[in-house]
Amino acid sequence: KAAAATAVAHPNIALIKYWGKSDERLMIPYVDSLSMTLDILPTVTTVRLGPGERTDQVTLDGAPAEGDFRQRVVTFLDLLRAMAGRDERAVVDTRNVVPTGAGLASSASGFAALAVAGAAAYGLDPDPTALSRLARRGSASASRSIFGGFAICHAGQGGGEAADRSAFAEPVPVTGLDPALVIALVNAGPKAVSSREAMRRTVATSPLYQSWAASSKIDLAEMRGALHRGDLAAVGEIAERNALGMHATMLAARPAVRYLSADTVTVLDSVLRLRADGVAAYATMDAGPNVKVLCHRADAGRVADAVRAAVPDCSVLTAGPGPAAVLRTE
Ligand code: DP6
Repeated sequence: KAAAATAVAHPNIALIKYWGKSDERLMIPYVDSLSMTLDILPTVTTVRLGPGERTDQVTLDGAPAEGDFRQRVVTFLDLLRAMAGRDERAVVDTRNVVPTGAGLASSASGFAALAVAGAAAYGLDPDPTALSRLARRGSASASRSIFGGFAICHAGQGGGEAADRSAFAEPVPVTGLDPALVIALVNAGPKAVSSREAMRRTVATSPLYQSWAASSKIDLAEMRGALHRGDLAAVGEIAERNALGMHATMLAARPAVRYLSADTVTVLDSVLRLRADGVAAYATMDAGPNVKVLCHRADAGRVADAVRAAVPDCSVLTAGPGPAAVLRTE
């Protein structure tokens, strides 16, 4: 009987962003990042070794995967085979709770689930640090989805092998916070520029990139303090400025990368109005126009209503801190 394993992993949203790589092959981030793993939208991935197959078979939400996504999965399976000293091809079945086309599917949950299931199927037995390094090779943000709650991903020290060994995520213990992320899906369309290409362009051409990376170090140090104190307003302020700074580096790239849309700005205005009304609400945006609003869980309903009123045709989801990636026993 062929070896098979199934894993479940959840997306994460960075409060201190990862943007830019110092090594594209080893997927080494330029900056440290810090995120919250969500309790919604899991990815479930099964890896089955098919000794009879000559090529890997990859399906995404039931349909054969194509193009760049398929290639990234096959490259990742090649890495697993090299690590395990085995050569069986695999059948990979990956499913997102929401369809991938909705602009919500996350490479973080995807590669975290693939790392956990793939390592088990190929007979590897990595500890959480090794799993996090492995997931990073698929997508650097996936290193953080190995862990539940809050996680920091170290950018790694030195270059080459040394960087590969030291670039991994680990949990950040947080007490006294009961946060929610209210996610405003303002536009489900496909991205104009892939985050991979956008990072490359930003690092190569944006005159603001180095100064954002430097200020991000300060943001991270302050973020750790704010999380330790359980100070949601400080956590939110730092996250918001870090994200806006990241988008500023992209706007200054040549040619500019602009993920934020008119609806994004409308939601940002509603967040400012909430704050003016005394609600602790802070926004963060990734490589797309959607807005994630950090708030106290008790305020999530009010925040969701404000966002819906601002952009009536957007869909709104609310998430709390979620679990670590796990192997599912069948
Ligand atoms: C803006 O992890 O998707 O969401 O490593 O190239 O796969 P690759 O990129 P990815 O980039 C995430 C960028 C971000 C910020 C973050 O999650 O830290």
